[in-house]
Amino acid sequence: MLNRHLLNVSGGSRHLQTPALVVDLEKLRTNLDRMQARCEHHTHVLRPHTKTHKCVAIAKLQVERGAVGICCAKLSEAEAMSRGGLENILVTSPVVTDEGIRRAISLSRTTKELILTIDNKSVARLTDAMAKSAQTELNVIMDIDPGMHRTGIPLGDEGLSLAHALKQDCPSLRFRGVQFYSGDLMHVLDYSVRRNRYLARSERLWAFLRELHEMGIDTEIVTGGGTGSYEFDFESDVMTELQAGSYAFMDRQYLEIESGSGGTLEFDPSLFVFTTVVSSNHSHMATTDAGLKSFATDDKTPLIVDGAPRESHYSFMGDEHGAIHWAIDDCKLDVGSLVSTVVPHCDPTINLYNELHVIHRDKLVDIWPIEARGHTQ
Ligand SMILES: Cc1ncc(COP(=O)(O)O)c(C=O)c1O
Repeated sequence: MLNRHLLNVSGGSRHLQTPALVVDLEKLRTNLDRMQARCEHHTHVLRPHTKTHKCVAIAKLQVERGAVGICCAKLSEAEAMSRGGLENILVTSPVVTDEGIRRAISLSRTTKELILTIDNKSVARLTDAMAKSAQTELNVIMDIDPGMHRTGIPLGDEGLSLAHALKQDCPSLRFRGVQFYSGDLMHVLDYSVRRNRYLARSERLWAFLRELHEMGIDTEIVTGGGTGSYEFDFESDVMTELQAGSYAFMDRQYLEIESGSGGTLEFDPSLFVFTTVVSSNHSHMATTDAGLKSFATDDKTPLIVDGAPRESHYSFMGDEHGAIHWAIDDCKLDVGSLVSTVVPHCDPTINLYNELHVIHRDKLVDIWPIEARGHTQ
C-alpha cells in the first residue's frame, strides 16, 4: 500500500504520494461530536448517512458517539457496512427486484436491525410474499415524496393508501414509520428561503402524520433531513431521526451555503485532496497531478486552502492534471510542492478513492479503507 511507510513519521503528511484523499482526524472528530451534541440537545436521534464517507471506521466513530445506527444509500453499501460490523442499518433507496429483495432478506439475517424503504404497493406485496416464503419478517418504512419527485409516494390519499396496505395487508412486513428527505432544498443558498420552504414542507408532513394517526397508524420512526436542513428539522420537530451525512467532511458546496447570508457554519472542512505540483514553467500558473479523475466535478472546482498564493484558483487540465492560477507577479510554485484542496462535493469524490489517509497535525496516523467505494448496486 502506497504511503504506509509514512505512518507515524514526523512530517509524514507532507510526503504523501498524490493525489491523496486525506481526512484531518481532529476536525472530523469535532464535526462528529458537534452534530451528536446538537441532536441530543434537541432530543433527536442521529442516524448519519454513510453514503458520504463509505468507510466503516467513520461509521463506527459515529455509532460510538451515540448514533442509533446508520443510513446506506444502496444494498451493497449496506452489505459492506454490515461486513464491517455495523448493526442497525436503514437502506434509504427502494429495493424493487426479486434478486434485490433476496439479498435484503439474507442481509437481514446477519444484521441486528435492517430497515428497507418502500414507495410502491406492488413492491410491498412482492417483498411481503418473499419474506413470507423465507419465513421471516422485514422492517419497512414508507418513503414519502416531499415534492422533488425522486423517490417516494405523494402525500395525501396515495400515501395514506400505501401506509394502510403496508400496515394491514403485509403480515410479513413490520411497518416502522416514514422517510421524508428533501434533497432538493439542501443547497438552496439563501438561508431564509431555505428555511421557509423547508418548514412549509415539514408542516405538510405533520398534517399527514396526524391523518395516519387518525386511521390508527402510528409512526415510530420519522426519518430524513441533512446537513442543509438540520436546524429546521430541530425547529419543526417532526423528524425523530436526522439522516445528515456531509457534516462529517463538509465540501465547497456546503461551505458556500453555510457561509452565505444567514448561514451558521458549525462544521469545518475535514476532507482534503492533496495534490503535487508537477510542472511550473509559466507565469501565474502551475500544473498539478489531480485532474478530473481525482475530484467529482458536478458543480464547483476544488478550493485551494494551502500551498499556493492567496486567492489562487483551481481549474481542470483534463483527466490527470489540474492547474493553479494566481494574479500576483514574481511568484512561482516549486515542482514537487504540495497543495491542499477542499473537495467540490464530498460524497462522489470519496467514491473515487480506495483509501483515506488519516492525518493528525503533521503525521499520517492511519490509512482507512473505503470499504463501500463503488458499491452503488
Ligand atoms: C436520503 C438521504 N438522506 C440523507 C442524505 C444526507 O444529506 P447531506 O449529505 O446533505 O447531509 C442524503 C444525501 O444525499 C440522502 O440522499
